[in-house]
Amino acid sequence: MIKLTPSLLAADLLHLGRGIEMMRRDRLNQLHFDVMDAHFVPNLSFGPDFCQVIHQRHPDMILDVHLMMDNPEQYLEEFARYGASSITLHREIAEDMSGMIQIIRSLGVKCGLSVKPGTSAQTLLPYLDQLDLILIMTVEPGFGGQKFMPEQMEKIRFLRQIGFQGDIAVDGGVNMENAPLLTQAGATLLVMGTSYFHAEDPSRVARFVEELNQ
Ligand code: DX5
Ligand code: ZN
Repeated sequence: MIKLTPSLLAADLLHLGRGIEMMRRDRLNQLHFDVMDAHFVPNLSFGPDFCQVIHQRHPDMILDVHLMMDNPEQYLEEFARYGASSITLHREIAEDMSGMIQIIRSLGVKCGLSVKPGTSAQTLLPYLDQLDLILIMTVEPGFGGQKFMPEQMEKIRFLRQIGFQGDIAVDGGVNMENAPLLTQAGATLLVMGTSYFHAEDPSRVARFVEELNQ
């Protein structure tokens, strides 16, 4: 199933509740939650407490936590306890990701790995059977509102060709124009920050993605 997962980073942070209500109205139940550490990426965003507040107020909202951070070990348990449905780590943060993947799985949370544009999809191969999702970055991570990098779609095709059956998420510059290409290539989760929350008619964007399932 193809799903739109709006990225919280682009919501009106002073009126976050309105953003979530907007999602509900559009029958969207999955939120992309970006965590940045000012080290792995040159920006700072939300921490675990913020995740907890959203989960407490909106317990039925599926929270996809995208950890753009080095040394995330000490935060994994906290994010799981605070309501993360999935935790996605960056492939670039360690030579061997097995230990961290195992910790996430043992917490009963879905596990994902993400690759930056310069990181090959081949680096994911040792972990494919332990992953619920793979997140392909289609911009350099760190900021919303950047331009989509179409050549990254090759990674999606490659992963489907070799038989990966989990979710493939795409993150960065995703919009109504490239969404059909992405889903044709095999993507199932379309992360949209700017193109959903800043849209003139966000409901239209939600309907458009819904119709990609037909
Ligand atoms: C960027 C973040 C994205 C970001 C996407 O590093 O991982 O989730 O919010 O924003 P848009 O959709 O505006 O490119
Ligand atoms: Zn993200």
